[in-house]
Amino acid sequence: MSHLFILLCSIFFLSIPSSSQLDELFYSGFNELNTNITLSGISEFQKNGILRLTNETSRKMGHAFHTSPFHFKNSSNGSAFSFSTSFAFVIVPEYPKLGGHGLAFTLSPSIDLPTALPSQYLGLLNASDIGNFSNHLFAVEFDTVQDFEFGDINDNHVGININTMASNKSVAADLNLKGGKPIMVWIEYDSITTLINVTISPSSSKPRLPILSLKFDLSPILHEWMFIGFSSSTGLLASSHYVLGWSFKINGASKSLSLNSLPSLPVIKKIDKALVIGVSGSSFVFLVAMILIVAYLIRKFKNRDVIEEWELEIGPHRYSYKELKKATRGFKDKELLGAGGFGKVYKGTLPNPKIQVAVKRISHNSKQGLREFVSEIASIGRLRHRNLVQLLGWCRRRGDLLLVYDFMPNGSLDRFLFDEQNQKLSWEQRFKIIKGVASGLLYLHEGYEQIVIHRDIKASNVLLDGELNGRLGDFGLARLYEHGANPSTTRVVGTLGYLAPELPRTGKATTGSDVFAFGALLLEVACGRRPIEPKAAPEELVLVDWVWDNWKEGTFLNVVDPSLKGEFDEIEVLMVLKLGLMCSNNVALTRPSMRQVVRYLEGEIDVPEVLQAPSSSDDDQVFDGFVNQYLSSSSFVEKGSNSSTVGDVNASFASISTLPLSLCIE
Ligand SMILES: *[C@@H]1O[C@H](CO)[C@@H](O)[C@H](O)[C@H]1NC(C)=O
Ligand SMILES: *[C@@H]1O[C@H](CO)[C@@H](O)[C@H](O)[C@H]1NC(C)=O
Ligand SMILES: *[C@@H]1O[C@H](CO)[C@@H](O)[C@H](O)[C@H]1NC(C)=O
Ligand SMILES: *[C@@H]1O[C@H](CO)[C@@H](O)[C@H](O)[C@H]1NC(C)=O
Ligand SMILES: *[C@@H]1O[C@H](CO)[C@@H](O)[C@H](O)[C@H]1NC(C)=O
Ligand SMILES: *[C@@H]1O[C@H](CO)[C@@H](O)[C@H](O)[C@H]1NC(C)=O
Ligand SMILES: *[C@@H]1O[C@H](CO)[C@@H](O)[C@H](O)[C@H]1NC(C)=O
Ligand SMILES: *[C@@H]1O[C@H](CO)[C@@H](O)[C@H](O)[C@H]1NC(C)=O
Repeated sequence: MSHLFILLCSIFFLSIPSSSQLDELFYSGFNELNTNITLSGISEFQKNGILRLTNETSRKMGHAFHTSPFHFKNSSNGSAFSFSTSFAFVIVPEYPKLGGHGLAFTLSPSIDLPTALPSQYLGLLNASDIGNFSNHLFAVEFDTVQDFEFGDINDNHVGININTMASNKSVAADLNLKGGKPIMVWIEYDSITTLINVTISPSSSKPRLPILSLKFDLSPILHEWMFIGFSSSTGLLASSHYVLGWSFKINGASKSLSLNSLPSLPVIKKIDKALVIGVSGSSFVFLVAMILIVAYLIRKFKNRDVIEEWELEIGPHRYSYKELKKATRGFKDKELLGAGGFGKVYKGTLPNPKIQVAVKRISHNSKQGLREFVSEIASIGRLRHRNLVQLLGWCRRRGDLLLVYDFMPNGSLDRFLFDEQNQKLSWEQRFKIIKGVASGLLYLHEGYEQIVIHRDIKASNVLLDGELNGRLGDFGLARLYEHGANPSTTRVVGTLGYLAPELPRTGKATTGSDVFAFGALLLEVACGRRPIEPKAAPEELVLVDWVWDNWKEGTFLNVVDPSLKGEFDEIEVLMVLKLGLMCSNNVALTRPSMRQVVRYLEGEIDVPEVLQAPSSSDDDQVFDGFVNQYLSSSSFVEKGSNSSTVGDVNASFASISTLPLSLCIE
């Protein structure tokens, strides 16, 4: 009897091929009962024998590690053994063109990585331990989102990460990682040559050349005993990440896997299901039914455009189109809050909990542009500050991208400053708004894990909440940089009058260029005039110069907004004007930082008595050149509204929401 039992057991174990010793393992499919794999996060074994690391829930991670560690070296100071592994994975993104982060084969000292983060951290590390030598982490990532933060080369790459998330070496994959098709991977490390090779293929046959090869001695990275397995994560966008089979061996070649013998993912497309039903019944009636179903689906497909599952789901950051349509009462004109070249902003009300939102509808045809935009959203969606307009979520439908923001009942600051019909703001209210915007901007520059350059600070992008607090909005042009990194050259975008003079020359958006725009905003709020008024008398064309002239003459009270009717705190107004002039200095280095600006505004330090002329350098000419060029032609705006990238889309928005003063230079 007991013999029979052992026999049965061994047959059972053999049927799910298993590791014999602890220098090797082989899983051709995964069976919950018979694997020595420990799961954490949202990973699970599916009934069909597939290991699912994540599903389409946003911002989650999934881990799967072999339960016992492997012996990777003979002694702690010895050299790491050779190893090889192969596995097959499938990534099914919720939205076909956009990945939801990625997965990584991982060697880790711990089995569950509890302090790691999802999204761009792939469930491997967190913001404070990236790059730390004590991580002892080796990972080969298959990354489907381009994170500017970690210098990712694109949104479809393979990288080798050692203790950090910025890949030590990475390469663009020559096949679509998130195509929903199985991909075979071979990873080999040779202890003598210290070469790490990564090879990928859409079939079971291994290509001759690796896609990625890095010479790196893993000995100092690996502990004597290491856990091996997989880590995966989703972000604002999500993908299902699956592993179909896995083979591993220390000091030798891992057993080869064959895609044919691995479990395969069920076909999930709804339209395919309908076809299967139709074909299985061979009668004429069924054939007719099938045709009707297909016709119905095609019609539905055409009308609704996408029958994607995510559209029907309601997640914290992803709204269904239906829901937003309902919230905005079918995008009724009555709910329109604003409009521009990019599309329209509607007011909406979401049920449960009942909140008011602003839904920005961006019409977009370019997939490339959309992709860039969404990866920006992924980063910007994580910014949180009481003086920023919070992005609550998004939805995509056909060429439309819908962005959902906190609703700002009082609209934008420029309406209060320039709209004749609107109530005018008192000085106290203005000062509070200025302080709020300054603290929001300080957060962007210094308070976040990266430096965020807003690039489009102006009165129409300052929104006012119910208590008339100033909040920065419209991050469509924002750029993110590592602290300490040198900003890269980009297209010059922004709005004339707020555009730092060095920008067209250097092409580099910096914290200093944001400070310049903030200076223009300060003067605007104090004077109740736009930074550049083309229709004004010539000497009043540029607000900064006008304020400076009055300053020199000692007639600064002349510049204060007449609609304040003389009711203001003279000391505060004086400080704001001075600060506006300091921030508007043409020489970037002489502008204060936002930290200093906030300290001035809070009265912690006094503004200097003597000011430098804002336009004391040659840059002046460059700037004037641009003003003149603009005034003689409006072609910048045209250019912006036709091209495909996000910056342009927003530039054209800017052009409508203020004067046609937006500018976009390739
Ligand atoms: C799981 O581990 C145990 C003990 O280490 C071993 O006897 C068994 O064969 C392993 N099973 C599989 C499927 O690897
Ligand atoms: C994903 O998996 C988790 C846990 O297994 C579950 O709670 C969640 O509903 C799933 N989400 C989707 C979109 O299937
Ligand atoms: C590790 O130690 C074992 C036994 O002591 C020895 O047989 C083996 O050659 C050593 N391996 C390496 C790579 O040094
Ligand atoms: C390596 O460490 C062992 C003890 O773990 C020690 O006996 C040996 O001398 C060390 N070898 C070298 C080369 O440092
Ligand atoms: C990051 O991970 C490390 C361990 O690697 C942990 O000590 C630290 O507390 C984590 N930090 C956060 C903010 O979770
Ligand atoms: C690296 O991590 C260790 C232990 O978690 C910590 O003591 C050390 O300060 C970290 N080093 C850096 C540069 O963060
Ligand atoms: C490469 O790996 C080492 C680990 O030894 C790490 O310190 C370094 O920062 C990595 N280089 C890059 C460019 O990420
Ligand atoms: C890695 O690839 C190179 C070819 O690029 C090959 O010469 C080398 O033998 C490979 N090493 C391993 C460990 O597979």
